Amino acid sequence: MGSGDIRVEQLSSLEQLLEFARLPYQVYGNRDAWWPPDVQNEIDLLAGKSLLSTYLEMAPFCARRGGRIVARVSAIINRRYIEHWHEPLGHLIHFEALDGADDGVAAMLEAAVQWLEARRMRAVRSGFAAFLDYPYAIDNYGSLPSFLLRGNGPSYHRYFKEAGFFTEKGQVDYTASLTPEWTVRYRGISDAASAAGVRVRSWREYGFLAAIDAWTEVTTAAFDRHWGWHPVTKAEVRPMLTALWETPVADLSMLATIGSDVVGAVFSVPDLSPMLVKVRPGARLDPERGGGTRGALINIGVLESARGRGVALAMTARSFLAMAERKMRFAGYTLVLDDNWASRHTALKVGARVTGNFVAYRRDLATAQRQ
Ligand SMILES: CC(C)(COP(=O)(O)OP(=O)(O)OC[C@H]1O[C@@H](n2cnc3c(N)ncnc32)[C@H](O)[C@@H]1OP(=O)(O)O)[C@@H](O)C(=O)NCCC(=O)NCCS
Repeated sequence: MGSGDIRVEQLSSLEQLLEFARLPYQVYGNRDAWWPPDVQNEIDLLAGKSLLSTYLEMAPFCARRGGRIVARVSAIINRRYIEHWHEPLGHLIHFEALDGADDGVAAMLEAAVQWLEARRMRAVRSGFAAFLDYPYAIDNYGSLPSFLLRGNGPSYHRYFKEAGFFTEKGQVDYTASLTPEWTVRYRGISDAASAAGVRVRSWREYGFLAAIDAWTEVTTAAFDRHWGWHPVTKAEVRPMLTALWETPVADLSMLATIGSDVVGAVFSVPDLSPMLVKVRPGARLDPERGGGTRGALINIGVLESARGRGVALAMTARSFLAMAERKMRFAGYTLVLDDNWASRHTALKVGARVTGNFVAYRRDLATAQRQ
Protein backbone atom coordinates (compact mmCIF):
# COMPACT_ATOMS: atom_id res chain seq x y z
CA MET A 1 0.00 0.00 0.00
CA GLY A 2 1.48 3.39 -0.89
CA SER A 3 0.54 7.07 -0.91
CA GLY A 4 3.03 9.70 -2.08
CA ASP A 5 6.38 8.70 -0.71
CA ILE A 6 4.73 6.83 2.23
CA ARG A 7 4.56 3.08 1.93
CA VAL A 8 2.91 0.68 4.39
CA GLU A 9 4.13 -2.91 4.40
CA GLN A 10 3.27 -6.09 6.22
CA LEU A 11 6.59 -7.69 7.09
CA SER A 12 7.71 -11.29 7.05
CA SER A 13 11.34 -11.88 6.04
CA LEU A 14 13.98 -12.14 8.73
CA GLU A 15 15.77 -9.13 7.31
CA GLN A 16 12.58 -7.03 7.48
CA LEU A 17 11.88 -8.19 11.04
CA LEU A 18 15.38 -7.19 12.09
CA GLU A 19 14.85 -3.72 10.64
CA PHE A 20 11.49 -3.56 12.46
CA ALA A 21 13.02 -4.62 15.77
CA ARG A 22 15.78 -2.01 15.49
CA LEU A 23 13.53 1.04 14.98
CA PRO A 24 13.80 1.99 18.70
CA TYR A 25 17.49 2.74 18.10
CA GLN A 26 16.38 5.61 15.86
CA VAL A 27 13.55 6.74 18.13
CA TYR A 28 15.51 6.72 21.41
CA GLY A 29 19.18 6.31 20.46
CA ASN A 30 20.11 9.97 20.88
CA ARG A 31 18.83 10.14 24.48
CA ASP A 32 21.18 10.39 27.46
CA ALA A 33 19.84 7.04 28.68
CA TRP A 34 17.40 4.47 27.31
CA TRP A 35 16.49 0.78 27.53
CA PRO A 36 17.36 -0.88 24.21
CA PRO A 37 15.04 -3.62 22.99
CA ASP A 38 15.78 -7.33 23.27
CA VAL A 39 15.99 -7.66 19.48
CA GLN A 40 16.37 -11.45 19.37
CA ASN A 41 13.43 -11.99 21.68
CA GLU A 42 11.27 -9.72 19.56
CA ILE A 43 12.26 -11.43 16.33
CA ASP A 44 11.48 -14.84 17.86
CA LEU A 45 8.04 -13.56 18.80
CA LEU A 46 7.43 -12.04 15.37
CA ALA A 47 8.66 -15.21 13.67
CA GLY A 48 6.23 -17.32 15.74
CA LYS A 49 9.02 -19.03 17.70
CA SER A 50 8.23 -17.73 21.19
CA LEU A 51 6.50 -19.70 23.94
CA LEU A 52 3.67 -17.18 23.67
CA SER A 53 3.27 -17.83 19.94
CA THR A 54 0.85 -20.73 20.36
CA TYR A 55 -1.75 -18.28 21.65
CA LEU A 56 -1.18 -15.57 19.06
CA GLU A 57 -1.91 -14.71 15.48
CA MET A 58 0.16 -11.70 14.52
CA ALA A 59 1.06 -9.36 11.69
CA PRO A 60 3.87 -6.80 11.91
CA PHE A 61 3.44 -3.62 9.85
CA CYS A 62 5.71 -0.68 9.13
CA ALA A 63 5.47 2.66 7.38
CA ARG A 64 8.38 3.71 5.20
CA ARG A 65 9.21 7.15 3.93
CA GLY A 66 11.76 7.15 1.13
CA GLY A 67 12.46 3.49 1.87
CA ARG A 68 13.29 4.10 5.55
CA ILE A 69 11.08 2.77 8.37
CA VAL A 70 9.47 5.68 10.25
CA ALA A 71 6.85 3.73 12.25
CA ARG A 72 6.03 0.17 13.21
CA VAL A 73 3.32 -1.81 14.94
CA SER A 74 2.23 -5.46 15.30
CA ALA A 75 -1.44 -6.38 15.15
CA ILE A 76 -2.16 -9.41 17.30
CA ILE A 77 -5.07 -11.65 18.06
CA ASN A 78 -4.47 -13.06 21.50
CA ARG A 79 -6.76 -16.06 21.81
CA ARG A 80 -6.23 -16.26 25.56
CA TYR A 81 -7.47 -12.73 26.08
CA ILE A 82 -10.52 -13.27 23.87
CA GLU A 83 -11.48 -16.54 25.57
CA HIS A 84 -10.95 -15.19 29.07
CA TRP A 85 -12.94 -11.98 28.64
CA HIS A 86 -15.34 -13.18 25.92
CA GLU A 87 -14.48 -10.02 24.05
CA PRO A 88 -13.37 -9.89 20.39
CA LEU A 89 -10.62 -7.37 21.06
CA GLY A 90 -7.36 -7.25 19.12
CA HIS A 91 -4.14 -5.61 20.30
CA LEU A 92 -1.60 -3.35 18.67
CA ILE A 93 1.79 -3.97 20.27
CA HIS A 94 5.37 -2.88 19.44
CA PHE A 95 4.17 0.58 18.41
CA GLU A 96 7.03 3.02 17.86
CA ALA A 97 7.33 6.00 15.53
CA LEU A 98 9.67 8.84 14.74
CA ASP A 99 8.54 12.41 15.39
CA GLY A 100 6.73 14.02 12.47
CA ALA A 101 5.72 10.67 10.97
CA ASP A 102 2.00 11.55 11.07
CA ASP A 103 1.06 10.45 7.55
CA GLY A 104 2.97 7.19 7.81
CA VAL A 105 1.55 6.40 11.24
CA ALA A 106 -2.01 7.13 10.12
CA ALA A 107 -1.73 4.83 7.09
CA MET A 108 0.03 2.11 9.08
CA LEU A 109 -2.44 2.12 11.99
CA GLU A 110 -5.33 1.96 9.53
CA ALA A 111 -3.79 -1.07 7.80
CA ALA A 112 -3.22 -2.80 11.15
CA VAL A 113 -6.76 -2.03 12.34
CA GLN A 114 -8.20 -3.34 9.05
CA TRP A 115 -6.21 -6.55 9.49
CA LEU A 116 -7.88 -7.02 12.90
CA GLU A 117 -11.30 -6.05 11.59
CA ALA A 118 -11.00 -8.60 8.78
CA ARG A 119 -10.53 -11.20 11.54
CA ARG A 120 -13.78 -10.13 13.21
CA MET A 121 -12.31 -8.04 16.01
CA ARG A 122 -14.74 -5.38 17.30
CA ALA A 123 -12.27 -3.33 19.32
CA VAL A 124 -8.54 -2.61 19.39
CA ARG A 125 -6.28 -1.85 22.37
CA SER A 126 -2.76 -0.49 22.38
CA GLY A 127 -0.63 -0.06 25.47
CA PHE A 128 -1.46 -3.12 27.54
CA ALA A 129 -1.20 -6.85 26.90
CA ALA A 130 0.10 -9.38 29.45
CA PHE A 131 3.83 -10.03 28.84
CA LEU A 132 3.61 -8.23 25.48
CA ASP A 133 2.88 -4.53 25.78
CA TYR A 134 3.09 -1.65 28.25
CA PRO A 135 1.28 1.69 28.36
CA TYR A 136 2.28 5.02 26.91
CA ALA A 137 3.98 7.66 29.07
CA ILE A 138 2.10 10.92 29.52
CA ASP A 139 4.87 12.63 31.52
CA ASN A 140 8.63 12.50 32.19
CA TYR A 141 9.24 12.93 28.46
CA GLY A 142 12.88 12.48 27.56
CA SER A 143 13.93 10.91 30.87
CA LEU A 144 14.71 7.26 31.55
CA PRO A 145 11.51 5.33 32.29
CA SER A 146 11.28 2.67 34.99
CA PHE A 147 12.23 -0.87 34.00
CA LEU A 148 9.74 -2.36 31.48
CA LEU A 149 7.94 0.94 30.92
CA ARG A 150 7.81 3.08 27.82
CA GLY A 151 9.76 6.31 27.36
CA ASN A 152 7.77 7.51 24.35
CA GLY A 153 7.57 11.16 23.37
CA PRO A 154 4.38 13.29 23.37
CA SER A 155 3.66 12.82 19.65
CA TYR A 156 2.44 9.27 20.31
CA HIS A 157 -0.77 10.61 21.84
CA ARG A 158 -1.53 12.68 18.76
CA TYR A 159 -0.90 9.64 16.58
CA PHE A 160 -3.43 7.49 18.46
CA LYS A 161 -6.08 10.18 18.81
CA GLU A 162 -5.82 11.01 15.09
CA ALA A 163 -6.39 7.31 14.41
CA GLY A 164 -9.69 7.30 16.33
CA PHE A 165 -8.43 5.92 19.67
CA PHE A 166 -9.40 7.16 23.12
CA THR A 167 -7.76 6.80 26.54
CA GLU A 168 -9.12 3.58 27.98
CA LYS A 169 -7.16 3.31 31.25
CA GLY A 170 -4.69 5.37 33.20
CA GLN A 171 -1.86 3.79 35.16
CA VAL A 172 0.56 4.99 37.79
CA ASP A 173 4.18 4.18 38.54
CA TYR A 174 5.17 4.77 42.17
CA THR A 175 8.55 5.22 43.82
CA ALA A 176 9.33 4.87 47.54
CA SER A 177 12.40 6.30 49.22
CA LEU A 178 14.00 3.58 51.36
CA THR A 179 15.00 5.86 54.23
CA PRO A 180 16.01 4.52 57.69
CA GLU A 181 12.66 5.81 59.05
CA TRP A 182 10.71 3.83 56.48
CA THR A 183 12.73 0.66 56.98
CA VAL A 184 11.77 0.81 60.68
CA ARG A 185 8.11 1.03 59.62
CA TYR A 186 8.54 -1.86 57.17
CA ARG A 187 9.82 -4.03 60.04
CA GLY A 188 6.75 -3.07 62.07
CA ILE A 189 4.40 -3.99 59.19
CA SER A 190 6.21 -7.27 58.70
CA ASP A 191 6.12 -8.14 62.44
CA ALA A 192 2.41 -7.30 62.70
CA ALA A 193 1.63 -9.65 59.80
CA SER A 194 3.62 -12.51 61.24
CA ALA A 195 1.89 -12.04 64.61
CA ALA A 196 -1.41 -12.38 62.70
CA GLY A 197 -0.32 -15.71 61.19
CA VAL A 198 0.92 -14.48 57.80
CA ARG A 199 4.32 -15.93 56.96
CA VAL A 200 6.33 -14.07 54.30
CA ARG A 201 9.33 -15.74 52.71
CA SER A 202 11.58 -14.81 49.82
CA TRP A 203 11.51 -17.07 46.77
CA ARG A 204 14.98 -18.28 47.76
CA GLU A 205 13.78 -19.21 51.26
CA TYR A 206 10.69 -20.93 49.87
CA GLY A 207 12.58 -22.77 47.11
CA PHE A 208 13.00 -20.87 43.85
CA LEU A 209 11.50 -23.35 41.39
CA ALA A 210 8.49 -24.09 43.58
CA ALA A 211 8.09 -20.34 44.07
CA ILE A 212 7.83 -19.76 40.31
CA ASP A 213 4.92 -22.19 40.12
CA ALA A 214 3.30 -20.67 43.21
CA TRP A 215 3.63 -17.19 41.67
CA THR A 216 1.93 -18.42 38.49
CA GLU A 217 -0.97 -19.95 40.42
CA VAL A 218 -1.51 -16.99 42.73
CA THR A 219 -1.14 -14.44 39.94
CA THR A 220 -3.57 -16.23 37.64
CA ALA A 221 -6.16 -16.45 40.43
CA ALA A 222 -5.60 -12.97 41.92
CA PHE A 223 -5.62 -11.23 38.53
CA ASP A 224 -8.64 -13.14 37.22
CA ARG A 225 -10.78 -9.95 37.11
CA HIS A 226 -7.89 -7.49 36.70
CA TRP A 227 -8.48 -5.36 33.63
CA GLY A 228 -6.37 -6.34 30.64
CA TRP A 229 -4.87 -9.50 32.15
CA HIS A 230 -5.47 -13.16 31.26
CA PRO A 231 -4.39 -16.49 32.80
CA VAL A 232 -0.77 -17.52 32.32
CA THR A 233 0.65 -21.04 32.48
CA LYS A 234 3.48 -22.68 34.39
CA ALA A 235 4.89 -24.00 31.10
CA GLU A 236 5.52 -20.47 29.82
CA VAL A 237 6.51 -18.82 33.10
CA ARG A 238 9.10 -21.43 34.18
CA PRO A 239 11.50 -20.80 31.28
CA MET A 240 11.04 -17.03 31.61
CA LEU A 241 12.03 -16.96 35.29
CA THR A 242 14.17 -20.04 36.02
CA ALA A 243 17.43 -18.38 34.96
CA LEU A 244 16.90 -15.70 37.61
CA TRP A 245 17.51 -18.04 40.56
CA GLU A 246 21.13 -16.91 40.86
CA THR A 247 20.15 -13.22 40.91
CA PRO A 248 18.77 -10.95 43.66
CA VAL A 249 15.30 -11.54 42.18
CA ALA A 250 15.26 -14.66 44.41
CA ASP A 251 15.82 -12.51 47.53
CA LEU A 252 13.55 -9.57 46.60
CA SER A 253 10.52 -11.56 45.40
CA MET A 254 8.16 -12.83 48.14
CA LEU A 255 5.48 -15.39 48.84
CA ALA A 256 2.99 -15.21 51.69
CA THR A 257 1.48 -18.29 53.31
CA ILE A 258 -1.27 -18.73 55.86
CA GLY A 259 -0.93 -22.21 57.31
CA SER A 260 0.20 -24.33 54.39
CA ASP A 261 -1.58 -22.27 51.72
CA VAL A 262 0.24 -19.79 49.52
CA VAL A 263 -2.06 -16.75 49.50
CA GLY A 264 0.11 -13.99 48.05
CA ALA A 265 2.97 -13.48 45.63
CA VAL A 266 5.30 -10.63 44.72
CA PHE A 267 7.79 -10.47 41.88
CA SER A 268 10.53 -7.87 42.35
CA VAL A 269 13.75 -7.02 40.56
CA PRO A 270 16.97 -5.29 41.57
CA ASP A 271 18.13 -2.22 39.64
CA LEU A 272 18.79 -3.66 36.18
CA SER A 273 19.81 -0.34 34.68
CA PRO A 274 23.60 -0.83 35.17
CA MET A 275 23.33 -4.00 33.09
CA LEU A 276 20.77 -3.00 30.48
CA VAL A 277 20.50 0.76 30.04
CA LYS A 278 22.48 2.52 27.31
CA VAL A 279 23.93 5.64 28.89
CA ARG A 280 25.65 8.32 26.82
CA PRO A 281 29.28 8.75 27.98
CA GLY A 282 29.41 11.51 30.60
CA ALA A 283 25.68 11.31 31.38
CA ARG A 284 24.53 10.27 34.87
CA LEU A 285 21.26 8.76 35.97
CA ASP A 286 19.20 10.35 38.71
CA PRO A 287 19.40 7.82 41.63
CA GLU A 288 15.60 7.67 41.75
CA ARG A 289 15.61 6.40 38.17
CA GLY A 290 18.46 3.90 38.21
CA GLY A 291 22.22 3.64 38.25
CA GLY A 292 22.16 0.79 40.76
CA THR A 293 19.96 2.45 43.37
CA ARG A 294 16.36 1.68 42.31
CA GLY A 295 14.84 -1.76 42.77
CA ALA A 296 11.25 -2.40 41.73
CA LEU A 297 8.26 -4.44 42.78
CA ILE A 298 6.78 -5.42 39.43
CA ASN A 299 3.79 -7.50 40.37
CA ILE A 300 1.73 -8.22 43.50
CA GLY A 301 -1.32 -10.42 43.97
CA VAL A 302 -3.26 -11.77 46.95
CA LEU A 303 -5.96 -14.46 46.71
CA GLU A 304 -9.42 -13.01 47.25
CA SER A 305 -10.00 -15.16 50.36
CA ALA A 306 -6.97 -13.60 52.08
CA ARG A 307 -7.50 -9.94 51.15
CA GLY A 308 -7.84 -7.09 53.60
CA ARG A 309 -5.59 -8.75 56.22
CA GLY A 310 -2.36 -6.91 55.47
CA VAL A 311 -0.84 -9.63 53.26
CA ALA A 312 0.05 -7.23 50.43
CA LEU A 313 1.52 -4.73 52.86
CA ALA A 314 3.63 -7.40 54.54
CA MET A 315 5.02 -8.74 51.24
CA THR A 316 5.78 -5.23 49.97
CA ALA A 317 7.47 -4.28 53.24
CA ARG A 318 9.65 -7.42 53.17
CA SER A 319 10.59 -6.87 49.53
CA PHE A 320 11.52 -3.23 50.17
CA LEU A 321 13.53 -4.23 53.26
CA ALA A 322 15.45 -6.75 51.14
CA MET A 323 16.18 -3.98 48.62
CA ALA A 324 17.40 -1.63 51.38
CA GLU A 325 19.68 -4.38 52.74
CA ARG A 326 21.23 -4.59 49.27
CA LYS A 327 21.98 -0.84 49.24
CA MET A 328 19.12 0.19 47.00
CA ARG A 329 17.87 3.65 48.02
CA PHE A 330 14.58 3.67 46.10
CA ALA A 331 11.93 1.10 45.31
CA GLY A 332 9.53 1.22 42.41
CA TYR A 333 5.97 -0.03 42.84
CA THR A 334 5.40 -0.40 39.18
CA LEU A 335 2.23 0.12 37.32
CA VAL A 336 -1.10 0.34 39.09
CA LEU A 337 -4.41 1.08 37.40
CA ASP A 338 -5.67 4.54 38.39
CA ASP A 339 -8.79 2.97 39.88
CA ASN A 340 -7.11 0.03 41.65
CA TRP A 341 -7.58 1.51 45.11
CA ALA A 342 -6.48 -1.61 46.97
CA SER A 343 -3.10 -1.49 45.26
CA ARG A 344 -2.82 2.30 45.43
CA HIS A 345 -3.48 2.21 49.18
CA THR A 346 -0.80 -0.44 49.53
CA ALA A 347 1.66 1.83 47.70
CA LEU A 348 0.74 4.81 49.91
CA LYS A 349 1.09 2.78 53.11
CA VAL A 350 4.71 1.93 52.23
CA GLY A 351 5.53 5.58 51.57
CA ALA A 352 5.52 5.46 47.77
CA ARG A 353 4.56 8.48 45.73
CA VAL A 354 3.43 8.92 42.12
CA THR A 355 6.45 9.36 39.85
CA GLY A 356 5.09 8.44 36.43
CA ASN A 357 1.78 8.33 34.58
CA PHE A 358 0.74 6.20 31.64
CA VAL A 359 -2.27 5.42 29.45
CA ALA A 360 -3.57 2.61 27.29
CA TYR A 361 -5.59 3.41 24.17
CA ARG A 362 -8.68 1.78 22.70
CA ARG A 363 -10.69 2.08 19.54
CA ASP A 364 -14.16 0.56 19.25
CA LEU A 365 -14.47 -0.34 15.61
CA ALA A 366 -18.24 -0.06 15.29
CA THR A 367 -18.18 3.43 16.91
CA ALA A 368 -15.30 4.63 14.80
CA GLN A 369 -17.13 3.58 11.64
CA ARG A 370 -20.08 5.82 12.55
CA GLN A 371 -17.89 8.92 12.97
C1 LIG B 1 -4.07 -5.16 45.53
C2 LIG B 1 -3.99 -6.38 46.46
C3 LIG B 1 -2.66 -7.07 46.22
C4 LIG B 1 -4.10 -5.90 47.91
O1 LIG B 1 -3.93 -7.04 48.75
P1 LIG B 1 -4.43 -7.10 50.28
O2 LIG B 1 -3.62 -8.14 50.95
O3 LIG B 1 -5.89 -7.24 50.33
O4 LIG B 1 -4.01 -5.66 50.82
P2 LIG B 1 -3.76 -5.29 52.36
O5 LIG B 1 -4.71 -6.05 53.22
O6 LIG B 1 -2.31 -5.44 52.65
O7 LIG B 1 -4.16 -3.77 52.37
C5 LIG B 1 -3.28 -2.73 52.01
C6 LIG B 1 -3.98 -1.38 52.18
O8 LIG B 1 -4.94 -1.20 51.15
C7 LIG B 1 -6.23 -1.04 51.73
N1 LIG B 1 -7.18 -1.77 50.90
C8 LIG B 1 -7.21 -3.12 50.71
N2 LIG B 1 -8.23 -3.40 49.87
C9 LIG B 1 -8.83 -2.23 49.56
C10 LIG B 1 -9.93 -1.89 48.72
N3 LIG B 1 -10.62 -2.81 48.03
N4 LIG B 1 -10.25 -0.57 48.58
C11 LIG B 1 -9.56 0.37 49.25
N5 LIG B 1 -8.51 0.10 50.07
C12 LIG B 1 -8.15 -1.19 50.21
C13 LIG B 1 -6.15 -1.65 53.10
O9 LIG B 1 -7.14 -1.13 53.94
C14 LIG B 1 -4.74 -1.30 53.50
O10 LIG B 1 -4.64 0.05 53.92
P3 LIG B 1 -4.78 0.38 55.49
O11 LIG B 1 -3.64 -0.34 56.14
O12 LIG B 1 -4.66 1.87 55.51
O13 LIG B 1 -6.09 -0.13 55.95
C15 LIG B 1 -5.18 -7.35 46.19
O14 LIG B 1 -6.38 -6.63 46.25
C16 LIG B 1 -5.11 -8.06 44.84
O15 LIG B 1 -4.45 -9.07 44.68
N6 LIG B 1 -5.84 -7.52 43.82
C17 LIG B 1 -5.89 -8.14 42.49
C18 LIG B 1 -4.56 -8.07 41.78
C19 LIG B 1 -4.05 -6.65 41.75
O16 LIG B 1 -4.78 -5.72 41.46
N7 LIG B 1 -2.76 -6.49 42.04
C20 LIG B 1 -2.10 -5.23 42.03
C21 LIG B 1 -1.76 -4.85 40.64
S1 LIG B 1 -0.95 -3.27 40.64
